[in-house]
Amino acid sequence: MRTLIVGIGALGGTIATRAVSAGMPVWLATRTGDSARALRASGLRVSGVGGTAAAGSVQAAVVADYRDQHFDLILLATKAHEALEIAPFLSTLLTPGATLLCIQNGGVSQILSDRLGTLVLGGVSNLGATMIEPGVYEQRNAGHLLIGEIAGGLSERTTRVAETLRRAIETRVTPNLRGAVWAKLLLNCSVTTIGAVAARTMRQYMTSSTGREVFRKIYDETLSVALASGTRPERMIVEPIPPRDDYDGWILQIIDSYGDVKPSMLQDFERGRRTEIDFINGYVAQLGRRLGVPVPMNAAMTELVHRIEQGEVKPDPARLDDLLAGPLPIST
Ligand SMILES: NC(=O)c1ccc[n+]([C@@H]2O[C@H](COP(=O)([O-])OP(=O)(O)OC[C@H]3O[C@@H](n4cnc5c(N)ncnc54)[C@H](OP(=O)(O)O)[C@@H]3O)[C@@H](O)[C@H]2O)c1
Repeated sequence: MRTLIVGIGALGGTIATRAVSAGMPVWLATRTGDSARALRASGLRVSGVGGTAAAGSVQAAVVADYRDQHFDLILLATKAHEALEIAPFLSTLLTPGATLLCIQNGGVSQILSDRLGTLVLGGVSNLGATMIEPGVYEQRNAGHLLIGEIAGGLSERTTRVAETLRRAIETRVTPNLRGAVWAKLLLNCSVTTIGAVAARTMRQYMTSSTGREVFRKIYDETLSVALASGTRPERMIVEPIPPRDDYDGWILQIIDSYGDVKPSMLQDFERGRRTEIDFINGYVAQLGRRLGVPVPMNAAMTELVHRIEQGEVKPDPARLDDLLAGPLPIST
């Protein structure tokens, strides 16, 4: 499969390095010409879990330069808002019956599938990666890519895409892609976003009654939206529906897995980068409104994150009190 990887950042770069070094026919698309030139000069290297791999010679170009070429598979590995912008152009680069695979967190694959149709295949990455510098990546865990049809069920093309990608990274197929997306969304909306606005890890913010209350409210609200949308969230680390008789044990299981991780959104705040909030809590709030499910916590969280992005307030444990106190004004 002629494969184009678009977005050679932490995740795209890690997958690209393993794919090129495995001898796959892979082309790389960057946002700027400078990035493409730098990658052609430096090649790619990955270290960490999964072992080291290197690709000395890579075919990299700015994405528009591929306008006269065609691919059997395009792996879209930019951030969410960039994915929405570039996907219509990428759909023109596909051979008949080819696939655009989206691996962003949150609602991206569903939104793109609504816009572009069945050429979109959804992916959930449990693989964690960071970019040390352009061309140099670190794989942080032994995670895998889970891919599937947005409409559900198994398909021959999903199997083919998985077989192709398996040469680079562990790739599994699910007949319940939406359930897998929501399993991760439930944890992103709660574990990650709460930690980001509080500037604390989950283990830290769950020591306060405010932290526990915000967690429970956001999680329950997100789960209500998932169920109202007809999705059956899959198990990811824990059962998606908290057990009534052992809620505390269920929380401890999540803390065991994610309790000490610095939220990626907090890193976005620190670097002054735009977050993916509109595709995480913002997506849930929008869908909840459409489905008639009350979403005050996800709506307030989305607004709070936007205010932090704009520099109006800072991430701090006091933000959790603000969320429980209701609408604006938020203390600085
Ligand atoms: N990293 C992880 O461990 C991980 C795990 C699970 C899911 N995800 C999801 O995967 C997605 C990518 O995350 P990431 O951490 O890899 O982000 P990242 O490091 O910011 O990489 C995104 C890359 O996309 C490039 N890009 C932006 N617009 C582009 C365009 N129009 N054409 C070509 N390239 C473009 C960016 O280039 P510039 O820097 O030049 O803008 C950057 O290199 C996100 O949705 C994230 O939620 C990541």
